[in-house]
Amino acid sequence: MPNRCIVGNWKMHKTISQAKSLICDILSKYQAHPSVELVVAPPYVALPSVAHLLGPTPIKCAAQNLCAKDEGAFTGEVSPPMLQELGCHYVIIGHSERRHLFGETDQDINEKIHAALHHGLQPIFCIGERLADREADQTHTVIQHQLQTGLAGVAGKDLDNITIAYEPVWAIGTGKAATVEEATEVHTAIRSFLKVHWSLNAEQIRILYGGSVTADNAQALFQSPQINGALVGKACLNSESFVKIAEHAISD
Ligand code: 13P
Repeated sequence: MPNRCIVGNWKMHKTISQAKSLICDILSKYQAHPSVELVVAPPYVALPSVAHLLGPTPIKCAAQNLCAKDEGAFTGEVSPPMLQELGCHYVIIGHSERRHLFGETDQDINEKIHAALHHGLQPIFCIGERLADREADQTHTVIQHQLQTGLAGVAGKDLDNITIAYEPVWAIGTGKAATVEEATEVHTAIRSFLKVHWSLNAEQIRILYGGSVTADNAQALFQSPQINGALVGKACLNSESFVKIAEHAISD
């Protein structure tokens, strides 16, 4: 898979008709490049329409969440086979909004990662510290704990199918992105942690940065060899800024 990846997390934005219009705008502006993979994560209800419009284009679909169970009496949940049949390649797991607003635990996240891998969906596994953690100098401890628990029982070979997204909670939706130095430092720590604990070639693991990424700050972030792309929130809701961010990620 390409080493660079840009994921647009639409969160709870766009009705089905608005989603169709946004994806058509993105398709009209985006020139695919082999060095970058572009992924969109619309809300569940818009996934069928978006997947249909994307068809055989190189842009891939992600779900924003999934249930760890295959089927059963789980009102309101969506299973991995359902997402797979829709044509999803990826699924975002462990987003800080799921952790902090909806009470998802590390154990839930671990089960979801296993379920996704079992059904051939590639997890985009989100981790990140809160402001209080950073101020207490606990960033690395928090990140390591999230990696250790979220990836418990995952074999080294399966890490090839996982994209990590480092999203410091204090940078999400605040307009205050991490600096290139701050993101690079944590990405480097994530890579060496994975290397030590899963003894793999961690240079190949894709680690995205997320938190107030815009068309204006993306280029500087992508200068860092440790940053393999971005998980974009607000700026992905506009086709122009989303495509610009993807263009900044093109490498030779
Ligand atoms: P913003 O880009 O709006 O800060 O959101 C980041 C995010 O949470 C992506 O998953």
